[in-house]
Amino acid sequence: MQLSESVAAASFPTIDAMEEKVDPGGPLIVVFGPSYATAAGLKDVRDMTRNHPEIAAIMVVEELTTQMLQQALRAGVADVVAAPSDSGQLLEAVERVGETLSVVPSAPTRAEAGGAEGRMISVFSTKGGAGKSVVASNLAVILARQSNAPVALVDADLQFGDVAVMMKLTPQHTVVDAVASINRLDAPLLQSLLVRHEPSGLYVLPAPVEPAFADQVSGADMVRIVKVLQSFCAYLVIDTPAHFNDVVLALLEESDDILLISGMDIPNIKNVKLGLQTLRLLNIPVSKLKLVLNRSNSKVKLDIGEVERTLQMKADALIPSDILVPQSVNKGVPAVIDAPKSGVSKSLEQLAGLFADSSQGRRARR
Ligand SMILES: Nc1ncnc2c1ncn2[C@@H]1O[C@H](COP(=O)(O)OP(=O)(O)OP(=O)(O)O)[C@@H](O)[C@H]1O
Ligand SMILES: [Mg+2]
Repeated sequence: MQLSESVAAASFPTIDAMEEKVDPGGPLIVVFGPSYATAAGLKDVRDMTRNHPEIAAIMVVEELTTQMLQQALRAGVADVVAAPSDSGQLLEAVERVGETLSVVPSAPTRAEAGGAEGRMISVFSTKGGAGKSVVASNLAVILARQSNAPVALVDADLQFGDVAVMMKLTPQHTVVDAVASINRLDAPLLQSLLVRHEPSGLYVLPAPVEPAFADQVSGADMVRIVKVLQSFCAYLVIDTPAHFNDVVLALLEESDDILLISGMDIPNIKNVKLGLQTLRLLNIPVSKLKLVLNRSNSKVKLDIGEVERTLQMKADALIPSDILVPQSVNKGVPAVIDAPKSGVSKSLEQLAGLFADSSQGRRARR
């Protein structure tokens, strides 16, 4: 096919082969041959358009029927052309779709503005009550106050998430609404679903209001949501439940940083050690991990060195135990706002400082 100089063309036998080779650094159009005009083929196309909103799809079919057109459009295809006797029609379609890709972006993203995707920080622990939600909400508030660009906090504890309560927010929308619109989710739509925490300017995507709704959310859905958030946020902080599930795994894989929260007692350390083993088995790079020891000054028999030796990891942050933490949780005011001069707040500021060097986000688009 003859294309203009600024356009490169390549052909691949399968979507997998294409995904392996192509890094969509700019607008990308994929032209599917007639072999994809089957139920199974269209499903693959739909998966691709869903996983790669940045890619536009064109489909070439043997025979262009209304039904075919409808099915293709439902699979997220931007244009359908009948198998051309010459390539003129196809070229026209490529140019038409190319124009919509570069001229009318769905939203001004950081990447398009020359910035980078937002840095994604997940807060995780294999032990319930370790302090994940306290750390996630306070860290997100600090980053939101420091950053000029939006910062978002996602409550991925889909069954029992309590971030909204901890921050005294009354959400109109939750993760479930984002999933309901997943096929057309873009930055403006997702922005309209976030609730703003006025004291800090942080944007929050709360967990579903009913635990039963958690079943409606898949790992792929969450990845799609965080990708859209990363397109316009400088930072993304994710609060998680205290166990591995497909949503947590998908998010941990996507994360740039994983904060492992551990308490200072034997059951905590034991569970964190098991969690570390699982993360290794899952091939999550150790370089992503940061160890946060919560209630580090607790009057228990373990000392910090002992914990570090057992976990074979140096602690990146130590957060003291303080009654003001549950007090601030009950007030619905994050500790860093409620008691900014406290030791707890200072340690959380230090933790946030570990991410300060990337205030412009993490890197250019992958
Ligand atoms: N440094 C601290 N000092 C005192 N209390 C703390 C501290 N960190 C957390 N807490 C208290 O411990 C309880 C559990 O904290 P949090 O809800 O953040 O844990 P979690 O890991 O998110 O729990 P879950 O697994 O249930 O989601 C809360 O009541 C909180 O106030
Ligand atoms: Mg929690």
